[in-house]
Amino acid sequence: MTDAKTPSVNLSPSDYVIIGGTGDLALRKILPALFWRYLDGQITSDYRIAAASRRDISPEDYAGMLRPFCEDAFSGGGASEDDWTGFLALISMITLDVQGGAGGDHLAGFINERADSARPTIFYLAIAPSLFGDATRLLRDCGLATPQARLVVEKPLGHDGASSRAINAELAEIFDESQIYRIDHYLGKETVQNLMALRFANVIFETQWNNNHIDHVQITVAETVGVDNRAAYYDAYGAIRDMVQNHLMQLVCLVAMEPPSHFNADQVRDEKLRVLRAIRPLSAGDISRGQYQEYAQELGSPSDTETYVAMKLAIDNWRWAGVPFYIRTGKKLARRASEIVITFKQRPHDIFQRNGGGDIDSPPNRLIIRLQPSEGLRLQLISKEPGPGGMRLFPSELNLSFGDTFEARLPDAYERLLMDTARGNQTLFMRRDEVFAAWDIIDPAMKLVAGRTPALYRSGTMGPADDLLAADGRSWIDPYDD
Ligand code: BG6
Repeated sequence: MTDAKTPSVNLSPSDYVIIGGTGDLALRKILPALFWRYLDGQITSDYRIAAASRRDISPEDYAGMLRPFCEDAFSGGGASEDDWTGFLALISMITLDVQGGAGGDHLAGFINERADSARPTIFYLAIAPSLFGDATRLLRDCGLATPQARLVVEKPLGHDGASSRAINAELAEIFDESQIYRIDHYLGKETVQNLMALRFANVIFETQWNNNHIDHVQITVAETVGVDNRAAYYDAYGAIRDMVQNHLMQLVCLVAMEPPSHFNADQVRDEKLRVLRAIRPLSAGDISRGQYQEYAQELGSPSDTETYVAMKLAIDNWRWAGVPFYIRTGKKLARRASEIVITFKQRPHDIFQRNGGGDIDSPPNRLIIRLQPSEGLRLQLISKEPGPGGMRLFPSELNLSFGDTFEARLPDAYERLLMDTARGNQTLFMRRDEVFAAWDIIDPAMKLVAGRTPALYRSGTMGPADDLLAADGRSWIDPYDD
């Protein structure tokens, strides 16, 4: 066992202003993440948190709303009532109407009490993107769009390239790109970051990481949940916009990117951008869409929105020419598991065949990177079966489970990302040109599928896209059992 609990880096204290502080995102993700950072001592009593909301809510009522979302810190993290009281003392409630402007003075007074050019103020817009323009203009009009201000936004940043460009242009009117932190929470996941460590802190994989050695790549992000209470949002977006445009494209980038010279924000993002720009425009046959059988009934009307999608991507560059990337994601699938599977090429020649013990059809080497749950790595190899009786081969595995290896809890993606905003590190945030490049792939793909009815699939299966791979003589590799 390795104790992965490294001392948290102390940062200069910051002010977090959560606009939309009583909304789902704030209660479910942002505040619990800040609480964990407080418990780990990274957020100290010098930090301040403002929960800004149109609703006039007392601190006591807010504490009551928030508590259920922080329960696992009490059960799993050993948080005490004193910790909770200490954390609540950092939170101020601010009634703010970003459209009418009421409450702006109060917010400005709060920030200016501790204004200091070395003290970052982080404005997290946990509100609908249609309100981003109002919110940023309000910040400017209240004198809060200062050089130490940072703006955090999250998808959906538009539903196509044009609307995304419009939203981003509104942000850019008031904030510089260096102040804008676009969250893709997949980039905050420990194992997603570990992908970069795996590739660029080791030499053994990098020499194999190309079309000389890799046959194809599969990326699966499978969920068991349905659309639940998000049906209205989801039906307007679907799996391609909700998951592929952002999370899956980012995973493709991390697998496919060239090594940057340095692990810094612009170099990493430059390399990801090159991957996106090298992805060949999709044709209709590269896309397979599905919808779980109960979806229309849950929605209350028929719909052509996909709850599942699989795509075959080609990356037109020297490293990846001829190596398909098959990606798939869906709701109500057989299990919740996200995996990247790198399948290496078959042995060029089988020396064992002639001894009568081998089998040229034995599976190729595979590297399986499990992103969630039960994060880990598996390297599938071929070994000799122990014992006399000739050279019998069997598939075996090197298995690294991060859960078993590291004692520490793996932090939630938002914890890492929120602290990066305080640190001023944009490496794990999407730059504007990356977002646009991803839309440049998705927009034409959406045109290709427009008006086509997705195939129905039964809940609890792995979706309807077997043909996509069968056409290439391959099949999906389903996530392994935990
Ligand atoms: C969100 C999508 O971005 O990611 C959801 O909007 C999806 O539809 C979620 O369920 C999946 O995130 P995670 O971290 O549970 O894999």
